[in-house]
Amino acid sequence: MPTLRQVRRVWKPAVFALALLPLAGLMAGATGVRSLTLGANPVEAIQDRTGLWALRLLLLTLAVTPLRELSGQAWPQQFRRMLGLFAFAYAALHFANYLLLDRALDWHEIITDLTKRPYIIVGASALLLLSALAATSTAGWRRRLGRRWQLLHRAAYPAAILVCWHFWWQVKKDVTEPLVYALLLATLLAWRLRRHLVRSRLPPA
Ligand code: HEM
Repeated sequence: MPTLRQVRRVWKPAVFALALLPLAGLMAGATGVRSLTLGANPVEAIQDRTGLWALRLLLLTLAVTPLRELSGQAWPQQFRRMLGLFAFAYAALHFANYLLLDRALDWHEIITDLTKRPYIIVGASALLLLSALAATSTAGWRRRLGRRWQLLHRAAYPAAILVCWHFWWQVKKDVTEPLVYALLLATLLAWRLRRHLVRSRLPPA
């Protein structure tokens, strides 16, 4: 198992670089690298890929605690904040692509979407939650909020539910892909619920 020093010096920079790869792929595709082309509709490709990576990284963030407890190892915890911040960063890029390239800053259309299109309202609610989590992810906020910090950061679960819903809702026919992500999230939620039930049955220490 890696030591804390190895995690800090080797594994964290490696995971950081890996998390940047989807962005590098998008940038290379957008600037014309043939093998990484974004296809006939680059704006849609950017929208879909940033959304998918945000969701994947969010699920990985939520998998850290089960991994830590099931393995009995402390090291997975070291990656949680970084993965969560990358999830937020891809979600922010997803939103920026929507505003700048998809809607070309047409505020009339944007406001209509944000008030009338249910799947956009659900996505925006998830983004708001993720923004609050990213903003309060620092050690300073953790100290200031004390026990309330843990409670606040449980909002990562409703945020992930909203994202799966947003994904499901915008799919036109085949729901296989959103279903796979929803099942992964359901597994993570079921693990948490089981742990909560087991703990609540234990006699107080
Ligand atoms: C205001 C916030 C948001 C807006 C305006 C927005 C907008 C969109 C749009 C326009 C699409 C593409 C729909 C289509 O192809 O027809 C989409 C898809 C998607 N979005 Fe969002 N979204 C938002 C928030 C989020 C967040 C916070 C996440 C994840 C953390 C997310 C994840 C996804 C995913 C996974 C897809 C499906 C990608 C695919 O089809 O492969 N979205 N979103």
